[in-house]
Amino acid sequence: MSMDHFIDRRTFLASLGALTAGAPFAFRSGRPPFWPLGAAAGLPLRARAQAKGLLYGSSTLVRYLRDDKAFSARFAEECGILVPEWELKWEVIRPAPDRFDFTAPDFLAAYAAEHTMAFRGHPLVWHESLPPWFATTVNRSNAETILRKHIATVAGRYAGKVHSWDVVNEAIDLGGGRPDSLRASPWLDFLGPDYIRIAFEAAAQADPHALLCYNDYGIEFKWPKEQAKRAAVLELLRRLKSSNVPIQALGIQAHLRAGDPGFSVQELATFLRQVADLGLKILITELDADDRALPKDPATRDQAVAKTYESFVSVALAEPAVIAVLTWGLSDRYTYFNKMRPRTDGAPARPLPLDADLKPKPAYDALARAFDAAPARPGPSAQK
Ligand code: XIL
Repeated sequence: MSMDHFIDRRTFLASLGALTAGAPFAFRSGRPPFWPLGAAAGLPLRARAQAKGLLYGSSTLVRYLRDDKAFSARFAEECGILVPEWELKWEVIRPAPDRFDFTAPDFLAAYAAEHTMAFRGHPLVWHESLPPWFATTVNRSNAETILRKHIATVAGRYAGKVHSWDVVNEAIDLGGGRPDSLRASPWLDFLGPDYIRIAFEAAAQADPHALLCYNDYGIEFKWPKEQAKRAAVLELLRRLKSSNVPIQALGIQAHLRAGDPGFSVQELATFLRQVADLGLKILITELDADDRALPKDPATRDQAVAKTYESFVSVALAEPAVIAVLTWGLSDRYTYFNKMRPRTDGAPARPLPLDADLKPKPAYDALARAFDAAPARPGPSAQK
């Protein structure tokens, strides 16, 4: 069957968005693709998104869902798509050069299916979270074989169950000094810029159903560095599209800074439209709001985080090509900030929609308003 046929199906699925969260999987499981909508007043985020043909969800880890029943219940209630925060990375699923361990992602894929959620893969190719054996095993002569085998095995295992894959993550680095702004990485060193095409073609072959994304950060605000990075990302997307690389979407990580005055509605809207004009869908893939620059007072931080969410997400959802919003965690109970970017005053970070007690924060209400105000995407749910 021609690739065109699959791309058509992918486009169809992408434009359906949450209308059929986890469609291929939900249909196959025989469950209805629609999540039963809750009471009108307290509609969960996944239902508000679905009502507009969108997906809302979050990253998570196995232990959060397996060991914290209260959290698992809230995650299932609020999220229409799940992405493994860490457990599809090489350092987790590749314990040895000749071994794969899918225990963790299998649990997450099964959880998503059980709760009629779409499942997102992240990432197939990244310069970080590589296993210890990588540096002493992979070289110029075997890199392509190892890369192709990884993608064929991992994307092949979940073929038909994945809504979208971050095929290549964070390949642009302006500091690298290259005319194409590609980041120095083992993949670039061993295979040259062509590693990106190789990865997308291998992913398309392994799973013709998934939406194939390029994912990056630092492209959300109006500061010169972010303007330059947006231009470099756009150039990369144009090169890939003009070379007929099978890419269907851009992932914008949206690790935002709460209180940062550098947000420009016009610049973001223009960028999103430029990406959409390439025929690409757009996903907001890792939304959170860093509150380290703000005073300690929780209420002050919560208001600033909510304002940052609402200004960014409302502009994003005004672009019809945007099909999904995922936060990088659902609750402050499990944000990665406390581990990787702690506040100097030691106060727990407050970057996410739910607080550490799983209660909605102003950021949750901001997301709810943004989904409620978003233009409906074409498709069955919009005709409800
Ligand atoms: C981070 C996770 O949050 C951590 O738990 C993990 O240890 C390292 O990766 N951009 C990305 C994500 O694309 O995969 C990163 O997630 C955060 C930055």
